[in-house]
Amino acid sequence: MSDYDKEDAGLTSSRSRSTKRKWIWIGVPVAIVVILAAVLGGVLGSRAHKNSSKSSSGSAAQASPSGEAAASQAASIKEHIGLYPTGTDSQYLLPIYPSTTNTAAFTTPTFVPSNNAALAWPKDPFQPSNPQPTSVRTDRPRILAPSYKWEALPNLIKNDPYFKFWNDTIFGNATAYFSLPPVVYHLDGGSGILDNAREIKMRIKAFAYVYRMTNDTKWLDRTFTELQNAAGNGTTPFGPDGQDKWNPTHFLDTAEFTAAFAIAYDWLYDAWSSDQRSAILSSMMFYGLEPGLNAYSNTSTGWWANNIEGNWNCVSNSGLTMGALAVLGDDTSGTAEAILGKSIPNALTNCIFAVSSDGTWSETANYWYFGTTGLAEMTSSLLTATGSDFGLLKNNPNLNKTGLYHMYVTGPGSLFAYGDHGPNKFSTTANSILFYGDQLQHPEYVLFQRDQHDAPEPNSMFWYNPEVSGAFWDGLPLDHVFDNSTDQWASMRSSWTDENALYVAMKAGTLTGHQTHNDLDAGDFVIDALGTRWAGELGSGDYLSEGYFSSDAQDSQRWLYYRKRTEGQNTILVNQDNQLVTAAPTVKFDSSGTQQGSSTVLDVSSDSTAYFTADLTSAYGNVTSFKRGIRLINGRKQVLLQDDINAQGTIMWRMHTNATVTVSGTSATLKIDDKTVQLSILNPPDGVTITTGPAQRFDNDPPLPQGQVDQPNPGVTVVMINLPAGTYSLQVLFNPQWPGASSSDFVTPPSVPIDQWTLTSHN
Ligand SMILES: *[C@@H]1O[C@H](CO)[C@@H](O)[C@H](O)[C@H]1NC(C)=O
Ligand SMILES: *[C@@H]1O[C@H](CO)[C@@H](O)[C@H](O)[C@H]1NC(C)=O
Ligand SMILES: *[C@@H]1O[C@H](CO)[C@@H](O)[C@H](O)[C@H]1NC(C)=O
Ligand SMILES: *[C@@H]1O[C@H](CO)[C@@H](O)[C@H](O)[C@H]1NC(C)=O
Ligand SMILES: *[C@@H]1O[C@H](CO)[C@@H](O)[C@H](O)[C@H]1NC(C)=O
Ligand SMILES: *[C@@H]1O[C@H](CO)[C@@H](O)[C@H](O)[C@H]1NC(C)=O
Ligand SMILES: *[C@@H]1O[C@H](CO)[C@@H](O)[C@H](O)[C@H]1NC(C)=O
Ligand SMILES: *[C@@H]1O[C@H](CO)[C@@H](O)[C@H](O)[C@H]1NC(C)=O
Ligand SMILES: *[C@@H]1O[C@H](CO)[C@@H](O)[C@H](O)[C@H]1NC(C)=O
Repeated sequence: MSDYDKEDAGLTSSRSRSTKRKWIWIGVPVAIVVILAAVLGGVLGSRAHKNSSKSSSGSAAQASPSGEAAASQAASIKEHIGLYPTGTDSQYLLPIYPSTTNTAAFTTPTFVPSNNAALAWPKDPFQPSNPQPTSVRTDRPRILAPSYKWEALPNLIKNDPYFKFWNDTIFGNATAYFSLPPVVYHLDGGSGILDNAREIKMRIKAFAYVYRMTNDTKWLDRTFTELQNAAGNGTTPFGPDGQDKWNPTHFLDTAEFTAAFAIAYDWLYDAWSSDQRSAILSSMMFYGLEPGLNAYSNTSTGWWANNIEGNWNCVSNSGLTMGALAVLGDDTSGTAEAILGKSIPNALTNCIFAVSSDGTWSETANYWYFGTTGLAEMTSSLLTATGSDFGLLKNNPNLNKTGLYHMYVTGPGSLFAYGDHGPNKFSTTANSILFYGDQLQHPEYVLFQRDQHDAPEPNSMFWYNPEVSGAFWDGLPLDHVFDNSTDQWASMRSSWTDENALYVAMKAGTLTGHQTHNDLDAGDFVIDALGTRWAGELGSGDYLSEGYFSSDAQDSQRWLYYRKRTEGQNTILVNQDNQLVTAAPTVKFDSSGTQQGSSTVLDVSSDSTAYFTADLTSAYGNVTSFKRGIRLINGRKQVLLQDDINAQGTIMWRMHTNATVTVSGTSATLKIDDKTVQLSILNPPDGVTITTGPAQRFDNDPPLPQGQVDQPNPGVTVVMINLPAGTYSLQVLFNPQWPGASSSDFVTPPSVPIDQWTLTSHN
């Protein structure tokens, strides 16, 4: 599954996840040093001391240039390094970085105008003085990928290792799709034909890309075959006859088909015969844009247009906008103009505010992908077609934090994936932050995303600004809190570039206002260490289960399903009851502010720490007071999770893990493969027990709707800590058994009430 291989990386060896690590670690830095030595030449003489306030934490504060000198040096070196990662982690699909001390390219993220014309980010010659949604550029393509960028691509591919790698991968992917039969119609109950729509969109983008890069008509023909299939003109039936073929009652499907057709129509405009062009146009109008215009005044198909701050609004307005821009001028019915009159203001009042004031996506970490892809494609299409974003990038002043959200919610064991995970992604990626990073001046978003497994796809070829330079981690704080009352979560880690790093994230937040994609999960946490996840999430239930999306009220059927219930989360259960949807937690966070430096190797000092605490009293009945706190101790090598609670009902601490768990008194040993985490209760309260059990509902839970079942959770064990009603400070210490560590390397922290936690309270 590795997207990157060592040849692409230009390095001598790639590091696998397992035991080979040691000798490979030695190999990689040497290769980089050799390359740099050859490249740098005289530059070395002019090195100045790095600003020491910035990387006090890094082990790499060696002589290196600063400011503009560093940036320009980094820019000239980067193409010689090639791709920064040496591979992709096969389990979590995250980039693996070489272990190196400071290299001159790993500097502060920035954009540096290139001296090399072949690597410059071309400027759009279309700069209308008074942009209007219905006044579009005269050349094609109009949406996402204007011709001046296609013209720049051959040089960019030749000179920039990321463009080269992505171009090669897109060709490979397109070749793989080429030999497949057209996507087969599959109506997945209430989820409709969304997978079909997104798979077709993904294929069409790749086919259209390769056609334009080769002029080989076999790609054009294959694109047309896919379009005819999706229009019901193929060799096998595709959906019902009539105007509901693209399933407007599940409008995401209609929107994604419309976007796919828009790209095919527009990117290949000059290549189609006039018959083909009118065939594509008529299908797009009949199945996409006409039902789309209708949706704005149809509560059954267009509910998403009415005050919905979430992915539905972004994806629907985006697909319709792309379709309308593509056909403007060729559609003589006025439908395209009418849609643009609705889709832009609608997204401006709804979609863009799914990014909360702290940058968190209001739904979940996975739904962020769908919503931000929709918004980016819509905005990018408007910018290229009309010369303006009409406020989509600015009217929510916090949109510029959305990349930060994605970066901090991603741990070395993958996402802190609370709530629902959503459908298959296909054409949906995290590449929107290549676009936002460029447009909103956040080079670190671009640098982060370009290394990810989902970066190679056509959008990246038009969104990636090759003038970016530096390393996303240089100067990036290890911890961050997102404290809008709707979200309230924080993450903390020991490194941005070590796949074995310690990562902890915990959330509080309100339990309503997430488009019914959340769980009853205040206090939920994840822990990654040693290259794997130790405390994790169960994810979505079956979206087709009865009442799954009925509401987020306390009596909603959604809260009958194990994966959505409080007992299915890594938090405290009182009386085995669900949390209260009226919860209004308050939170506190502090951090030593440790930033990673230039190096991918980070050794933090022993007082480097962070903590996040939440008052969760309001989430429970029968609880007088309850605070939960989590913190990193001992130089980010251990984790303390503490619950200060006074409850009138039985208390159960729960954690879901893939580990094999062996309990011994008030401790437990967690093992995954050859890795171990020791869990122990500090100052164990009288009567406390640790038990383990399967991840499934209690016998005395309220029954599921008739005929409904929970999804099985194979391989998952629940660790439970049980206490009778009472007042406790329950302190659980997690000690990952780091390679080479002995028992004396671990500390036993003092017992400190959560109210008295400070940055130094556990030193
Ligand atoms: C893009 O990749 C394909 C497949 O590897 C290659 O044949 C082609 O030359 C590349 N395009 C450019 C402009 O280098
Ligand atoms: C595209 O190709 C790469 C490299 O072979 C592969 O890892 C990736 O899964 C493919 N992507 C899709 C969506 O098929
Ligand atoms: C494809 O054809 C167009 C139009 O004739 C031309 O401008 C372009 O250079 C050609 N591209 C390739 C890769 O041959
Ligand atoms: C599909 O067939 C219908 C009916 O003949 C036609 O109106 C439409 O243009 C065709 N669309 C495509 C994409 O072939
Ligand atoms: C709303 O859309 C549905 C699905 O296309 C359609 O059946 C219905 O007639 C529409 N209602 C109105 C009032 O247009
Ligand atoms: C939280 O974010 C929402 C937008 O999702 C916003 O309406 C609200 O004002 C924010 N709250 C605070 C306290 O900033
Ligand atoms: C986002 O933009 C606002 C307003 O333009 C600015 O004040 C703020 O500093 C920016 N925040 C980030 C994280 O870029
Ligand atoms: C178990 O492992 C899978 C695959 O890596 C992961 O997606 C899931 O979150 C893990 N579950 C738990 C409870 O940690
Ligand atoms: C308190 O616990 C009792 C059972 O002991 C339960 O019936 C009641 O609903 C609980 N109250 C709240 C507000 O949860």
